[in-house]
Amino acid sequence: MEQAIAVLDSGVGGLTVAKEVMRQLPREKIIYFGDSARAPYGPRSSQEVALFTEQIVDYLVQYNPKMIVIACNTATAAALNIIKAKLDVPVIGVIHPGARAAISTTKTGKIGVIGTIGTIISDAYSIALKEINPAIEVYSQACPAFVPLVEKGLSDSRQALKIVEESLVQMQGNPIDCLILGCTHYPFLKSKIKQVMGAKVTLISSADETAREISVVLHQKGQLASGDHIPVHQFFCSGDAELFKKIAISWLGDQIKITPVVWQVPECL
Ligand code: DGL
Repeated sequence: MEQAIAVLDSGVGGLTVAKEVMRQLPREKIIYFGDSARAPYGPRSSQEVALFTEQIVDYLVQYNPKMIVIACNTATAAALNIIKAKLDVPVIGVIHPGARAAISTTKTGKIGVIGTIGTIISDAYSIALKEINPAIEVYSQACPAFVPLVEKGLSDSRQALKIVEESLVQMQGNPIDCLILGCTHYPFLKSKIKQVMGAKVTLISSADETAREISVVLHQKGQLASGDHIPVHQFFCSGDAELFKKIAISWLGDQIKITPVVWQVPECL
């Protein structure tokens, strides 16, 4: 049977990665889990986020995926190594791909990072960036108000612009030439973040580079999906399934118009 790529997040944020996987790898089937009932993960302890991530992975493993993508920076920082050590299939997070994309974009070596409290406290981006180039200067800031906005489906509201403006005052004062959207929910607010940060700052999301990494790993393992079939994606959501579906349909747009989709609520976690 066709093996899927399992993608997980605290809610709708991982859809920004799933969309790019669908675009770059249209033959691949995706099984997506959004833990909306327990979002946001950002303010939780890393132990709790690691526990939730393990529970979701245990749930997804019953579908025999060929790869696990932790499409959540907070969960990547808290649990990537734990999940990698537990499984035989490849496990990919979003922090290293995001760091690589920023390194290939910056001209000045001064990079901003915004993310959840958990991601910023973990210092995972700084570590990943400096591992590649120790001379990089990193300016980090948590934006805890962003995820609740996106989860409520309010990304396009006037309230969203006000919150983005207020949250980024400090970041605007930093001499950066690119800004990593270090939370997979933030691309939902990209146009507003761009408006506030201005044209001189390039926004980096991990989605493109993560999809590329998935492609490389599957190619190396000889596991890229082949044939003429159209994959049937499956979406699980632990919280308000209708709201999740509404946000997902509007975000994924064309990517799921031609692709059948199954919406499900998990039986248990
Ligand atoms: N998408 C998650 C991330 O990338 C959001 C975290 C949250 O639920 O606070 O960090």
